[in-house]
Amino acid sequence: MTRLHGKTALVTGGALGIGMAVAQRFAAEGARVILADRNGEGAARAAAAIGANARAVTMDISDESAVAAAFAEAEETGWAPDVVVANAGVQLFGQDAQIADLDLEVWKRTIDINLTGTFLTVKYAVRTMLKNGGGSIILTGSPTAVNGEGKDFTAYSSSKAGVHGLGRTVAAAYADRGIRVNTVQPAYTETPLVAAISEDPESRAAIVSRIPIGRAGTPDDVAGIMVYLASDDGSFATGATFQVDGGMTSL
Ligand SMILES: NC(=O)c1ccc[n+]([C@@H]2O[C@H](COP(=O)([O-])OP(=O)(O)OC[C@H]3O[C@@H](n4cnc5c(N)ncnc54)[C@H](O)[C@@H]3O)[C@@H](O)[C@H]2O)c1
Repeated sequence: MTRLHGKTALVTGGALGIGMAVAQRFAAEGARVILADRNGEGAARAAAAIGANARAVTMDISDESAVAAAFAEAEETGWAPDVVVANAGVQLFGQDAQIADLDLEVWKRTIDINLTGTFLTVKYAVRTMLKNGGGSIILTGSPTAVNGEGKDFTAYSSSKAGVHGLGRTVAAAYADRGIRVNTVQPAYTETPLVAAISEDPESRAAIVSRIPIGRAGTPDDVAGIMVYLASDDGSFATGATFQVDGGMTSL
């Protein structure tokens, strides 16, 4: 398994869940991987478990100086990423709500991380890639961005719709300079993010019943498509959304 031999990837949200699985899989495919997370200890633990081909950096994606510093450090130490997975995100269960009941502060916190944080990650990824002849940027989107799954998650769904739009716009702007940008759209995937659903049998059954394949997704379900997009196999793919959602949004 060496589809990513010679590549260096930076994965945000690498301490847990989908980001950790993607970082593990990228390393298994031969890449060097930087696990970037606001939870620096968790990222360091996950990097140590991978081994010498992984390192961790503490980076809050909503803090421009932290994002700039992480990319600068990667460049200065010869780990300039040619693959960046802008994956970190939050879903504020119990706070996000239908719009009449949604606090501005919850809206702002969600947008700051999920949309502005993705903007900052992609901004510095593009700057780095322009210096190095291009690369592949992969965003983690959501079915809530494209259908009515998110009616109780106004801020989250809106932030993810913004991520999908950002991906298309940046893909169009840089296609002629060797930078590809694609969005992966997982369905309900069992990670710590969705513990509020996975630990409540009724909520879990309700969401799984809306997935035609009939089961919840796993972080590894998401990692495979990201290997394709990071690798040279994906060299003609840009501006696209890849649904890995058990048929949730297309059947
Ligand atoms: N789990 C799902 O069902 C699901 C479905 C569709 C999309 N997604 C998206 O996938 C991505 C990963 O989700 P997950 O389920 O692995 O979540 P998770 O909570 O398991 O992991 C998220 C990671 O992101 C980090 N993080 C959060 N805010 C950050 C910030 N400001 N700066 C840096 N790191 C930050 C956390 O510390 C954590 O390590 C998110 O963008 C999420 O919206 C998840």
